[in-house]
Amino acid sequence: MQTEQDAIIEEAQAAADEAQDSRALYEAKMKFLGRTGKVTALLKGMRDVAAELRPAFGKRVNELREKLEAMFAAREERMKQRELAAKFAHEQVDVTMPGRRHAKGALHPVTLVKNRLVDIFAGMGFEIFEGPEIETEYYNFTALNTPADHPARDMQDTFYVSGEYLLRTQTSAGQIRLMEKKKPPIKMLSPGRVFRADDDATHSPMFHQMEGLVVDKGITLGDLQGMLDEFARTMFSETSKTRLRPSYFPFTEPSVEVDVSCAACGGKGCSLCKGTGWIEVLGAGMVNRRVLENCGVDPDVYSGFAFGMGIERIAMLKYGINNIKLLTENDTRFLEQFKD
Ligand code: DAH
Repeated sequence: MQTEQDAIIEEAQAAADEAQDSRALYEAKMKFLGRTGKVTALLKGMRDVAAELRPAFGKRVNELREKLEAMFAAREERMKQRELAAKFAHEQVDVTMPGRRHAKGALHPVTLVKNRLVDIFAGMGFEIFEGPEIETEYYNFTALNTPADHPARDMQDTFYVSGEYLLRTQTSAGQIRLMEKKKPPIKMLSPGRVFRADDDATHSPMFHQMEGLVVDKGITLGDLQGMLDEFARTMFSETSKTRLRPSYFPFTEPSVEVDVSCAACGGKGCSLCKGTGWIEVLGAGMVNRRVLENCGVDPDVYSGFAFGMGIERIAMLKYGINNIKLLTENDTRFLEQFKD
């Protein structure tokens, strides 16, 4: 029995030595001390041992069990320590390591300018109205006094979708949509994307416009210029002035091109204003009688003015950007410079 006991101890030690992790060690332990283990079998075999030998036999088996239990417990503890150390080494956090930097976002210059314009005009009592980007020929052209054979349709290269549907070329379409819904007095501001088959350093096939419309009794061109002066002073500089030049748009009569004195040189003439001291900023005019009639507004009772400007153009002027492509390339090195 003594040698058998030693043999079992040796065998158990060898099995424990082989175990690489606590799971394997547990399995080795079960081979000896588990319900079907070798030591348990010895205990079960007690009943076959002669009665007088039984106490001594039982004592030895118990000693064997205790030795193995102690041996496994010690190894389990060591294994646990080892595994914990390995886990810690693996999951180690170096608190002195510099953190990952998160790039700080900034509003896009077009959004900055749009927000600024909305602020300025909302301060003058304008309401925001947004029309659809896919329009019909009627809203984009016909109702704006631009019938099918009108040469002014060629001024804007249109993307047609199908049939009478097109991508709106101007936010002016919003004037009609609003006037169909709402009777004067009207003070509307309509920002949005517009689309034209046009592509060079200052034109992009998609760009943003801001449309304005005021309709009420007794509105004059003087009201338009007063409002534009206020706009130029808040948008560009305290000393900005405006100048109206005769122009042509089918939906306004008379029509004007609006210049703002160059904020870069104060009107003296520089490379930005090409030496003229003035920069063309927007188109405007008195709403054509036909447009009012098309919307069921009596032109003998009401009059109004309208204006439309390119938001990219204003952003380029305000921030001195010389290529419109910079605004759509999404290069963050460029974009992150615009913090209001
Ligand atoms: N819709 C014109 C364009 O895209 C801009 C414009 C000019 C709008 C005169 C107006 C206006 O409302 O009165 O070129």
